[in-house]
Amino acid sequence: MKRLYGVIGYPISHSLSPVFQQAAFDFTQIEAAYVPFEVRPENLAPSLNAMDLLGVEGFNVTLPHKEAVFRLVQDRDPVALRIGAVNTVVRRSSGWLGANTDVGGFQSAFRDFVDMKIRSPLSHPLVLGAGGSARSVIFALQDGGFSRITIANRTPERAQLLLNSLFSGKEKEGLDVLPLEKLQKVGEFDVIINTLSRGAFGEGFPILEEAGLKGVKGMFDLSYRTDGLPTPFLQAGISAGIPWEDGLGMLLEQGALSFELWTGTTAPRHVMKEALFRKLNRPVEE
Ligand SMILES: NC(=O)c1ccc[n+]([C@@H]2O[C@H](COP(=O)([O-])OP(=O)(O)OC[C@H]3O[C@@H](n4cnc5c(N)ncnc54)[C@H](OP(=O)(O)O)[C@@H]3O)[C@@H](O)[C@H]2O)c1
Repeated sequence: MKRLYGVIGYPISHSLSPVFQQAAFDFTQIEAAYVPFEVRPENLAPSLNAMDLLGVEGFNVTLPHKEAVFRLVQDRDPVALRIGAVNTVVRRSSGWLGANTDVGGFQSAFRDFVDMKIRSPLSHPLVLGAGGSARSVIFALQDGGFSRITIANRTPERAQLLLNSLFSGKEKEGLDVLPLEKLQKVGEFDVIINTLSRGAFGEGFPILEEAGLKGVKGMFDLSYRTDGLPTPFLQAGISAGIPWEDGLGMLLEQGALSFELWTGTTAPRHVMKEALFRKLNRPVEE
């Protein structure tokens, strides 16, 4: 009998996960179907029960359910406990286990970006945004050894709350918060990571034009476009000849880590990437 996996979100039709997860199951000859489920927030709890009753083996969780699923599952892995959000759910005999592979996905994609495209040490990241994904990014950066991190957000109070809930006492040393509109006053960061909502500034990114990019060695965007064009954030870096990376690498890596949690099998990353890039009509670079 086919095993059943999926992704829940609202809306869900845009999700690219079915493309590369199904490719991974097919390549590894695991008889499984990976299905997108559109779940309205008010139906979340009964949907988890329904998936349990229907025998679903595991699923990904995307916007806006990551924090709510964290509260609904029976057990959580250590990273999910630290972040307070779940993007991967695994069936266990004791009930649903909630895991967080966004942190590992970002860590791996960012490490590849630094090693392969920046190729020099970094000391001071600037993170734009203080929402759910910024939580994973800031934790991953600090966990990865960065002792100076600046967070710029439209609502600086939200960024401060994020830091207070994620870190205690000494861990907060070297972590600064700035209002997004004051960005022109800083310039000592050497990599910029964008976690703002897709299209936060429409088609442009005026904040960066004002701040300038002097000293910036790389730009990493969690967002991506499906039409092959760079995001407005990355466009600013491309014009200035700065190495860049969009969110597809992180998307693939968090998915690969989910696949490994569900199956105990090494994810066929090259196959997943090929399937995703073919779908997006993008060339698969080495
Ligand atoms: N590649 C991947 O694997 C991956 C994984 C996770 C997320 N993402 C992407 O990351 C992005 C953010 O996701 P999220 O879950 O962190 O979203 P979120 O929790 O809703 O956070 C949104 C952030 O954007 C800011 N923002 C929204 N509208 C704005 C505007 N008009 N002007 C200035 N700031 C604005 C918010 O500021 P305030 O706090 O002031 O409201 C907040 O900092 C999404 O595009 C998502 O698709 C990608």
